[in-house]
Amino acid sequence: MRFLFSGTACPVFLLYLFRICLGNEQSTERRFALFLSLLWKSQKIVMKIDDIRKEYKKGRLLQCAVAPGPEPLFEQWLEEAVGAGITEPTAMVLATVSEEGYPSARTVLLKEFKDGKFIFFTNYESRKGIQLAHNAHVAITFPWYQQERQVQVEGVAVKLSETESEAYFNSRPYESRIAAVVSSQSRPIKSRRELLKKFAEAKIRYRESVPEKPIYWGGYAVTPVRVEFWQGGEHRLHDRILYTLQPDGKWKRERLAP
Ligand SMILES: Cc1cc2nc3c(=O)[nH]c(=O)nc-3n(C[C@H](O)[C@H](O)[C@H](O)COP(=O)(O)O)c2cc1C
Repeated sequence: MRFLFSGTACPVFLLYLFRICLGNEQSTERRFALFLSLLWKSQKIVMKIDDIRKEYKKGRLLQCAVAPGPEPLFEQWLEEAVGAGITEPTAMVLATVSEEGYPSARTVLLKEFKDGKFIFFTNYESRKGIQLAHNAHVAITFPWYQQERQVQVEGVAVKLSETESEAYFNSRPYESRIAAVVSSQSRPIKSRRELLKKFAEAKIRYRESVPEKPIYWGGYAVTPVRVEFWQGGEHRLHDRILYTLQPDGKWKRERLAP
Protein backbone atom coordinates (compact mmCIF):
# COMPACT_ATOMS: atom_id res chain seq x y z
CA MET A 1 0.00 0.00 0.00
CA ARG A 2 2.85 2.37 0.85
CA PHE A 3 3.92 1.96 -2.79
CA LEU A 4 0.76 3.81 -3.87
CA PHE A 5 1.96 6.97 -2.14
CA SER A 6 5.47 6.92 -3.43
CA GLY A 7 7.21 8.15 -6.60
CA THR A 8 5.31 7.83 -9.87
CA ALA A 9 2.64 5.58 -8.32
CA CYS A 10 1.26 8.49 -6.27
CA PRO A 11 -0.28 10.68 -9.04
CA VAL A 12 -1.61 7.54 -10.77
CA PHE A 13 -3.28 6.41 -7.55
CA LEU A 14 -4.78 9.89 -6.94
CA LEU A 15 -6.16 9.95 -10.50
CA TYR A 16 -7.66 6.52 -9.90
CA LEU A 17 -9.40 7.79 -6.75
CA PHE A 18 -10.67 10.82 -8.70
CA ARG A 19 -12.10 8.55 -11.38
CA ILE A 20 -13.99 6.49 -8.82
CA CYS A 21 -15.50 9.69 -7.46
CA LEU A 22 -16.30 11.13 -10.94
CA GLY A 23 -18.20 8.01 -11.86
CA ASN A 24 -20.60 8.81 -9.08
CA GLU A 25 -23.74 10.71 -10.01
CA GLN A 26 -23.59 13.13 -7.15
CA SER A 27 -22.87 16.81 -6.54
CA THR A 28 -19.32 18.19 -6.85
CA GLU A 29 -19.22 18.70 -3.07
CA ARG A 30 -20.28 15.08 -2.44
CA ARG A 31 -17.73 13.81 -4.95
CA PHE A 32 -14.96 15.86 -3.35
CA ALA A 33 -15.99 14.65 0.13
CA LEU A 34 -15.95 11.05 -1.15
CA PHE A 35 -12.49 11.60 -2.64
CA LEU A 36 -11.18 12.97 0.65
CA SER A 37 -12.68 10.13 2.69
CA LEU A 38 -11.21 7.50 0.31
CA LEU A 39 -7.83 9.20 0.56
CA TRP A 40 -8.07 9.35 4.36
CA LYS A 41 -9.02 5.64 4.56
CA SER A 42 -6.10 4.58 2.36
CA GLN A 43 -3.72 6.70 4.47
CA LYS A 44 -5.02 4.88 7.55
CA ILE A 45 -4.24 1.53 5.90
CA VAL A 46 -0.68 2.78 5.29
CA MET A 47 -0.26 3.87 8.90
CA LYS A 48 -1.60 0.68 10.54
CA ILE A 49 1.70 -0.93 11.39
CA ASP A 50 0.74 -1.70 14.98
CA ASP A 51 -1.37 -4.59 13.67
CA ILE A 52 1.73 -6.38 12.40
CA ARG A 53 2.11 -9.13 14.94
CA LYS A 54 3.81 -12.49 14.76
CA GLU A 55 4.20 -15.35 17.21
CA TYR A 56 7.78 -16.58 17.53
CA LYS A 57 7.83 -20.37 17.48
CA LYS A 58 11.02 -21.40 15.76
CA GLY A 59 13.14 -22.56 18.66
CA ARG A 60 14.05 -22.84 22.31
CA LEU A 61 17.23 -21.84 24.06
CA LEU A 62 17.96 -23.89 27.16
CA GLN A 63 20.65 -22.68 29.55
CA CYS A 64 21.68 -26.27 30.33
CA ALA A 65 22.17 -27.01 26.62
CA VAL A 66 24.66 -24.21 25.89
CA ALA A 67 28.45 -24.28 26.38
CA PRO A 68 30.25 -22.45 29.23
CA GLY A 69 31.46 -19.81 26.71
CA PRO A 70 29.59 -17.98 23.91
CA GLU A 71 31.76 -19.08 20.95
CA PRO A 72 30.15 -22.46 20.09
CA LEU A 73 26.60 -21.08 20.07
CA PHE A 74 27.63 -18.01 18.03
CA GLU A 75 29.37 -20.25 15.49
CA GLN A 76 26.31 -22.51 15.32
CA TRP A 77 23.86 -19.63 14.84
CA LEU A 78 26.11 -17.96 12.23
CA GLU A 79 26.37 -21.25 10.34
CA GLU A 80 22.59 -21.69 10.48
CA ALA A 81 21.99 -18.12 9.24
CA VAL A 82 24.39 -18.70 6.32
CA GLY A 83 22.86 -22.12 5.60
CA ALA A 84 19.32 -20.69 5.58
CA GLY A 85 20.23 -18.52 2.58
CA ILE A 86 19.01 -15.29 4.16
CA THR A 87 20.12 -11.91 2.77
CA GLU A 88 23.49 -10.81 4.19
CA PRO A 89 23.72 -13.38 7.02
CA THR A 90 27.02 -11.85 8.15
CA ALA A 91 25.63 -8.31 8.40
CA MET A 92 25.95 -6.78 11.85
CA VAL A 93 24.88 -3.41 13.23
CA LEU A 94 27.91 -1.76 14.77
CA ALA A 95 27.40 1.02 17.31
CA THR A 96 30.15 3.44 18.28
CA VAL A 97 30.14 6.56 20.44
CA SER A 98 31.22 10.06 19.42
CA GLU A 99 33.60 12.21 21.44
CA GLU A 100 30.54 14.14 22.66
CA GLY A 101 28.96 10.89 23.91
CA TYR A 102 26.39 10.42 21.13
CA PRO A 103 25.96 6.85 19.90
CA SER A 104 25.75 6.08 16.18
CA ALA A 105 25.06 2.78 14.43
CA ARG A 106 25.53 1.36 10.95
CA THR A 107 25.77 -2.01 9.23
CA VAL A 108 29.10 -3.63 8.48
CA LEU A 109 29.94 -7.17 7.42
CA LEU A 110 31.54 -9.72 9.73
CA LYS A 111 34.48 -11.05 7.75
CA GLU A 112 35.83 -13.51 10.29
CA PHE A 113 35.05 -14.91 13.71
CA LYS A 114 38.42 -15.95 15.04
CA ASP A 115 39.56 -16.81 18.58
CA GLY A 116 36.27 -15.45 19.86
CA LYS A 117 36.82 -12.08 18.12
CA PHE A 118 34.54 -10.38 15.62
CA ILE A 119 36.47 -9.02 12.63
CA PHE A 120 35.25 -6.36 10.18
CA PHE A 121 36.91 -3.97 7.71
CA THR A 122 36.39 -0.31 7.05
CA ASN A 123 37.98 3.09 6.47
CA TYR A 124 39.90 4.23 9.57
CA GLU A 125 39.15 7.87 8.68
CA SER A 126 35.39 7.32 8.36
CA ARG A 127 32.98 8.61 11.00
CA LYS A 128 33.09 5.29 12.85
CA GLY A 129 36.89 5.15 12.48
CA ILE A 130 37.27 8.60 14.07
CA GLN A 131 34.86 7.63 16.87
CA LEU A 132 36.76 4.39 17.49
CA ALA A 133 40.01 6.33 17.78
CA HIS A 134 38.44 8.24 20.70
CA ASN A 135 36.50 5.40 22.25
CA ALA A 136 37.16 1.78 21.36
CA HIS A 137 34.02 0.47 23.12
CA VAL A 138 31.46 -0.88 20.68
CA ALA A 139 28.14 -2.69 20.59
CA ILE A 140 27.24 -5.09 17.81
CA THR A 141 23.88 -6.62 16.94
CA PHE A 142 23.31 -9.54 14.58
CA PRO A 143 19.65 -9.26 13.52
CA TRP A 144 18.72 -12.76 12.36
CA TYR A 145 14.98 -12.15 12.06
CA GLN A 146 14.28 -15.14 9.85
CA GLN A 147 15.49 -17.43 12.62
CA GLU A 148 13.69 -15.23 15.21
CA ARG A 149 17.12 -14.65 16.72
CA GLN A 150 19.38 -11.81 17.76
CA VAL A 151 22.90 -11.77 19.18
CA GLN A 152 24.11 -8.67 20.99
CA VAL A 153 27.79 -8.16 21.66
CA GLU A 154 29.60 -5.51 23.67
CA GLY A 155 33.35 -5.24 23.60
CA VAL A 156 36.49 -3.41 22.63
CA ALA A 157 37.67 -2.85 19.05
CA VAL A 158 41.37 -3.00 18.24
CA LYS A 159 42.92 -2.39 14.80
CA LEU A 160 44.28 -5.46 13.02
CA SER A 161 47.96 -5.47 12.06
CA GLU A 162 48.87 -3.98 8.67
CA THR A 163 49.81 -7.48 7.48
CA GLU A 164 46.39 -8.90 8.41
CA SER A 165 44.54 -5.98 6.80
CA GLU A 166 46.68 -6.22 3.66
CA ALA A 167 45.97 -9.95 3.36
CA TYR A 168 42.22 -9.31 3.37
CA PHE A 169 42.46 -6.20 1.14
CA ASN A 170 44.37 -8.16 -1.50
CA SER A 171 41.70 -10.89 -1.47
CA ARG A 172 38.97 -8.39 -2.44
CA PRO A 173 37.77 -8.03 -6.04
CA TYR A 174 39.83 -5.54 -8.09
CA GLU A 175 36.98 -3.00 -8.37
CA SER A 176 36.32 -3.11 -4.61
CA ARG A 177 39.99 -2.35 -3.96
CA ILE A 178 39.85 0.62 -6.33
CA ALA A 179 36.65 1.82 -4.64
CA ALA A 180 38.37 1.70 -1.25
CA VAL A 181 41.25 3.74 -2.66
CA VAL A 182 39.06 6.50 -4.15
CA SER A 183 36.43 6.79 -1.42
CA SER A 184 37.05 9.16 1.49
CA GLN A 185 34.32 7.35 3.41
CA SER A 186 31.85 9.56 5.32
CA ARG A 187 33.19 12.84 3.85
CA PRO A 188 30.88 15.08 1.78
CA ILE A 189 31.42 14.88 -1.99
CA LYS A 190 30.16 17.18 -4.76
CA SER A 191 28.37 14.57 -6.83
CA ARG A 192 28.25 10.89 -7.81
CA ARG A 193 29.71 11.94 -11.14
CA GLU A 194 32.83 13.21 -9.37
CA LEU A 195 33.16 9.86 -7.54
CA LEU A 196 32.79 7.91 -10.80
CA LYS A 197 35.40 10.15 -12.42
CA LYS A 198 37.87 9.41 -9.61
CA PHE A 199 37.06 5.69 -9.94
CA ALA A 200 37.63 5.72 -13.73
CA GLU A 201 40.90 7.66 -13.35
CA ALA A 202 42.16 5.23 -10.71
CA LYS A 203 41.29 2.28 -12.95
CA ILE A 204 43.51 3.79 -15.66
CA ARG A 205 46.25 4.52 -13.11
CA TYR A 206 46.23 0.92 -11.87
CA ARG A 207 46.06 -0.62 -15.37
CA GLU A 208 49.48 -2.12 -15.03
CA SER A 209 49.81 -2.44 -11.29
CA VAL A 210 47.73 -3.66 -8.37
CA PRO A 211 46.06 -1.18 -6.05
CA GLU A 212 47.77 -1.26 -2.68
CA LYS A 213 45.85 -1.09 0.56
CA PRO A 214 45.60 2.56 1.56
CA ILE A 215 47.02 3.36 4.99
CA TYR A 216 43.57 4.62 6.05
CA TRP A 217 41.81 1.32 5.36
CA GLY A 218 41.89 -1.84 7.46
CA GLY A 219 40.27 -4.17 9.93
CA TYR A 220 39.20 -4.18 13.55
CA ALA A 221 38.88 -7.15 15.87
CA VAL A 222 36.26 -6.81 18.59
CA THR A 223 37.00 -8.72 21.79
CA PRO A 224 33.67 -9.30 23.54
CA VAL A 225 33.00 -8.80 27.25
CA ARG A 226 29.24 -9.38 27.03
CA VAL A 227 27.34 -11.60 24.60
CA GLU A 228 23.61 -12.12 24.71
CA PHE A 229 21.66 -14.69 22.68
CA TRP A 230 17.96 -14.02 22.09
CA GLN A 231 15.56 -16.58 20.69
CA GLY A 232 11.94 -15.48 20.14
CA GLY A 233 9.36 -17.41 22.15
CA GLU A 234 5.59 -17.88 22.08
CA HIS A 235 3.46 -15.22 23.84
CA ARG A 236 6.54 -12.96 23.94
CA LEU A 237 8.17 -15.32 26.47
CA HIS A 238 11.51 -15.17 24.72
CA ASP A 239 14.71 -16.95 25.75
CA ARG A 240 17.68 -14.74 26.63
CA ILE A 241 21.00 -16.24 27.63
CA LEU A 242 23.67 -13.78 28.69
CA TYR A 243 27.41 -14.44 28.90
CA THR A 244 29.51 -11.93 30.86
CA LEU A 245 33.29 -12.06 30.97
CA GLN A 246 34.61 -12.28 34.54
CA PRO A 247 37.91 -10.82 35.86
CA ASP A 248 39.38 -14.37 35.96
CA GLY A 249 38.75 -14.73 32.20
CA LYS A 250 35.85 -17.17 32.63
CA TRP A 251 32.35 -16.54 31.31
CA LYS A 252 29.38 -16.17 33.64
CA ARG A 253 26.18 -17.57 32.12
CA GLU A 254 22.68 -16.55 33.17
CA ARG A 255 19.12 -16.41 31.88
CA LEU A 256 17.46 -12.99 31.57
CA ALA A 257 13.75 -12.18 31.72
CA PRO A 258 12.36 -11.47 28.26
C1 LIG B 1 24.64 -4.72 4.09
C2 LIG B 1 25.67 -3.66 4.33
C3 LIG B 1 27.00 -4.01 4.48
C4 LIG B 1 27.96 -3.05 4.73
N1 LIG B 1 29.24 -3.44 4.97
C5 LIG B 1 30.17 -2.51 5.28
C6 LIG B 1 31.49 -2.91 5.67
O1 LIG B 1 31.82 -4.10 5.78
N2 LIG B 1 32.39 -1.93 5.95
C7 LIG B 1 32.05 -0.60 5.89
O2 LIG B 1 32.92 0.23 6.14
N3 LIG B 1 30.82 -0.21 5.55
C8 LIG B 1 29.86 -1.11 5.26
N4 LIG B 1 28.59 -0.72 4.94
C9 LIG B 1 28.29 0.73 4.88
C10 LIG B 1 28.09 1.27 6.32
O3 LIG B 1 26.81 0.89 6.81
C11 LIG B 1 28.28 2.79 6.42
O4 LIG B 1 27.47 3.44 5.48
C12 LIG B 1 29.73 3.19 6.17
O5 LIG B 1 30.63 2.31 6.79
C13 LIG B 1 29.99 4.59 6.71
O6 LIG B 1 29.66 4.63 8.08
P1 LIG B 1 30.18 5.80 9.05
O7 LIG B 1 29.96 7.08 8.31
O8 LIG B 1 29.32 5.70 10.27
O9 LIG B 1 31.61 5.55 9.34
C14 LIG B 1 27.59 -1.67 4.75
C15 LIG B 1 26.25 -1.32 4.60
C16 LIG B 1 25.31 -2.30 4.40
C17 LIG B 1 23.86 -1.89 4.29
